[in-house]
Amino acid sequence: MGLLSRWFRAVPGQAKSRDLEPIDLSTFRYDFHSHLVPGVDDGAPDLDSAIEMIDGLVSLGYEGAVTTPHVMVGTYPNDRSTLTPPFEMLQAAVSERHPNFKLALGAEYFLDASILSDLRNGADLLAPGGRLLFELAFGAPPEEGLLKEFVFEAQVRGFQPVLAHIERYSYWHGELHRLKKLAELGVWFQVNAASLAGAYGREIQQVAETCIDSGWVHLLGTDAHGIRHIDALAVSRVKAAVHRLAKTARNSKLF
Ligand SMILES: [Fe+2]
Repeated sequence: MGLLSRWFRAVPGQAKSRDLEPIDLSTFRYDFHSHLVPGVDDGAPDLDSAIEMIDGLVSLGYEGAVTTPHVMVGTYPNDRSTLTPPFEMLQAAVSERHPNFKLALGAEYFLDASILSDLRNGADLLAPGGRLLFELAFGAPPEEGLLKEFVFEAQVRGFQPVLAHIERYSYWHGELHRLKKLAELGVWFQVNAASLAGAYGREIQQVAETCIDSGWVHLLGTDAHGIRHIDALAVSRVKAAVHRLAKTARNSKLF
């Protein structure tokens, strides 16, 4: 927990709510959001770092993970062809070390005109189980038309759009009705375990809890970029919101 304590100390205003007995995370079965493919984005820089995170997931009871490298024009020009070789290298190492641990290659698509056009053109998108994980910019809200068109195009093509770390878009913290509308459109929401553990401060934690209590959240994810996120996952086990989410999450219907 060393890293985590340092991380938490750096964040003011973390929650003081009453903790519960740690939940058995095997209930969730799979992690749906992680950056484990070595050297392709700002996640695991090498195989050892990826294995360290996977060791952590195994020890916390997880059966598998969808790893979701960033795809963003200019910054992370990833696609199936660039990601498959390092993913297969990781998978080979993992199957030797943890033969029962399942690993699937997904992606975290940044919402822009490029992914919308890829969708329309029937590009070979990385979306295990049909779940299409996408993220928004943190600094400014997305153009509403782009967001709606993306959701519509994903749905008509048979994908389930999943919005990554819904609690981290601070421009919507005062406008939760926008999240409600997105949920009503059929978008699934994923929350980060680290947010529920309080790693990003009280406000983000509260929004994550409100989304769970409103019934909008379908998936818990680590969004693991490094071992600090696995440590945060361990901390999140005592949080009441994680216990509540365990009753409704759909992490388990993946493989
Ligand atoms: Fe991510």
